[in-house]
Amino acid sequence: MKVKEKYKDYFKGKTYNITTFGCQMNEHDSERISYILEDLGYTKTEDRSSADFILFNTCLVRENAELKLYGQVSSLKKLKKEHPEKIIAVSGCMMQTSTAREVIIKDHKEVDIIFGTKNINSLVDLIFRYLETNERVIDISTDDVKDDYVNYNTLNDFQAFVNIMTGCDNFCSYCIVPESRGREESRRPSAILAEVEHLVEEGYKEITLLGQNVNSYGNKADFDMTFPELLEKISQIEGLKRLRFTTSHPKDLSDELIEVIKNNDNICNYFHLPLQSGSSKVLKDMNRKYDQEKYIERAKKLREEIPGIAISTDIIVGYPTETEEDFKETLKVCREIEFDSAFTFKYSPRPKTRAAKLTPIDDEIVQDRFDRLLDTIYPIFNEKNKEYIGKTVEVLLESESKNNPDILTGRTDTFKLVHVKASKKLIGEIVKVKITDNTSFTISGELVE
Ligand code: 5AD
Ligand code: SF4
Repeated sequence: MKVKEKYKDYFKGKTYNITTFGCQMNEHDSERISYILEDLGYTKTEDRSSADFILFNTCLVRENAELKLYGQVSSLKKLKKEHPEKIIAVSGCMMQTSTAREVIIKDHKEVDIIFGTKNINSLVDLIFRYLETNERVIDISTDDVKDDYVNYNTLNDFQAFVNIMTGCDNFCSYCIVPESRGREESRRPSAILAEVEHLVEEGYKEITLLGQNVNSYGNKADFDMTFPELLEKISQIEGLKRLRFTTSHPKDLSDELIEVIKNNDNICNYFHLPLQSGSSKVLKDMNRKYDQEKYIERAKKLREEIPGIAISTDIIVGYPTETEEDFKETLKVCREIEFDSAFTFKYSPRPKTRAAKLTPIDDEIVQDRFDRLLDTIYPIFNEKNKEYIGKTVEVLLESESKNNPDILTGRTDTFKLVHVKASKKLIGEIVKVKITDNTSFTISGELVE
């Protein structure tokens, strides 16, 4: 505590800037970090070079992430030389792997603090340790106290993410997550419920539960609670308007979960169900533990049981063992399921994964398949969105549109992005919108009432 008192005024007027790479889990980690920094006295700035605390929260999943990071960190070398009092930090998945961490340690002396995905709760101590010693601080060893979360949301005051589990045990052959985020661990239900109750009391309308594979929640835990049970319990919290969750693994999508979504109005009619590939052979090579038939069966069951549900997916094109025939199977599944939206990726080898040992497919072939995939799915998205024309839907208004401040953007419970002309005062409210127009990626219309 003494150290804290010494630096009581140090943070006054100081600013921080965070650059986040990667997934929602990382976005949420950045929010938790923001909360901790603001609690210390920092205020946020969008201008990186003027910030007193500069953080890169890294990701390993996306292509070229390492090179991008090294480039951005290098560009701060001069700044750090001229302003040695600035603190530069790197966190996140990439720091969990020794190769990327070594590069930062050896080649980037401008970085002062390095920490992993499990050390966010220690950040304040790391900052004080750095201020006391003026020497680089590295912490990737200790573990977060999982139940010791407070409400770390700074995104806005009506939507919040809540982690229900960390890590992953699935070892998909292409994926770095089990390496970077470690083995699967579920948070205790009582801690999760307390956090959501608190958020709802504070006026939060929409909660998104986060985990790499939420469907296996509780499988290895010493408490007795499945994901559908947890979801139902959370949905019953008085006053919660919208409940979302991500991500689900198709192999663990149970009928029980479908029933819970169907029977509880505030659980959104939206399901993100990563396909990765439509070919049973490639799925086997990826170690996904389901085949084309099982995926189609699960997705169709969702559509049958919950009319109007939107389904989105993740697709990887150009996995090393993917042939033209295999790729056509992916197109076939896309046509059959009629996804509402998709995140599409060109396969990229990640260090220490099983697939990294395989010979990659030629770039031109991958690019050609990628283009054909988009040519197939964009018209489907367009058709799915067109079905909304003439309908009146409930939309949670989130922010001003980037290009036109008179237009607000929001989401339907089916996660459709909506554009509507409305007053800024309505941000954070759920309003009714009559849909009049659409593209492959948005629907738009007019306020009703
Ligand atoms: N190459 C391409 N895409 C990948 N993803 C994960 N690892 C890789 C990789 N090595 C994609 C998957 C996953 C999403 C978050 O990122 O589709 O579902
Ligand atoms: Fe990666 Fe597979 Fe785990 Fe998803 S389920 S995080 S793709 S290993």
